[in-house]
Amino acid sequence: MDAAPALVTAATERARSAGFPLSCVPAVGRLLAVLAVHLPPNDRVLELGTGAGVGTAWIASALLPRTDVTVTTVEFDPQTAAVAAQNDWPAYVDLRTGDALDLLNRLGSFDLIFADAPAGKWDGLDRTIAALNPHGLLVVDDMTPMADWTNEQRTRQDGVRRTLLTDPRLVSVEIDQGSGVILSTSRGK
Ligand SMILES: C[S@@+](CC[C@H](N)C(=O)[O-])C[C@H]1O[C@@H](n2cnc3c(N)ncnc32)[C@H](O)[C@@H]1O
Repeated sequence: MDAAPALVTAATERARSAGFPLSCVPAVGRLLAVLAVHLPPNDRVLELGTGAGVGTAWIASALLPRTDVTVTTVEFDPQTAAVAAQNDWPAYVDLRTGDALDLLNRLGSFDLIFADAPAGKWDGLDRTIAALNPHGLLVVDDMTPMADWTNEQRTRQDGVRRTLLTDPRLVSVEIDQGSGVILSTSRGK
């Protein structure tokens, strides 16, 4: 397999130095990259939960050298957002600090959403789905339960999984990739 893009390597190293343990795994990053490359001009990408910027880096690297797609990403924790901000981002990446649900209310709709924060995934998933453009793609990872998850985490994951697989607005598939992914497309009807 190809080596990770330089931006991903740099973001991963910054995450490691900062002790940030929640970055997406490479298998999920590569899936995001594939989907990002597929986006036509003027499409909009949203990531909920920037973390240290590793997922953002997979998406942004895949889009280079294009400049016709925008990538907005939001992180609630200012210290984590500051780690992500140290990366050398292309101009089309818009890093925001704030609450994902607040942003979902204000930024309109998107063609690819990576819902990777508790807000917009465990809470407010309905608002994330509503923010998809017709035929928009939604990626949700960490769908495979981990041995150390609490009952509450298992219950929440189960609720998210059920919603994604049964919501009539979506067509969804579970993919045994990385931490476990559900990929959904908005029917646009
Ligand atoms: C799983 S990590 C994100 C990893 C990142 N997407 C990646 O691919 O490397 C989840 C992040 O969501 C952030 N977060 C928690 N609550 C949030 C909220 N209400 N709005 C935005 N981000 C939030 C956490 O601080 C954490 O950095």
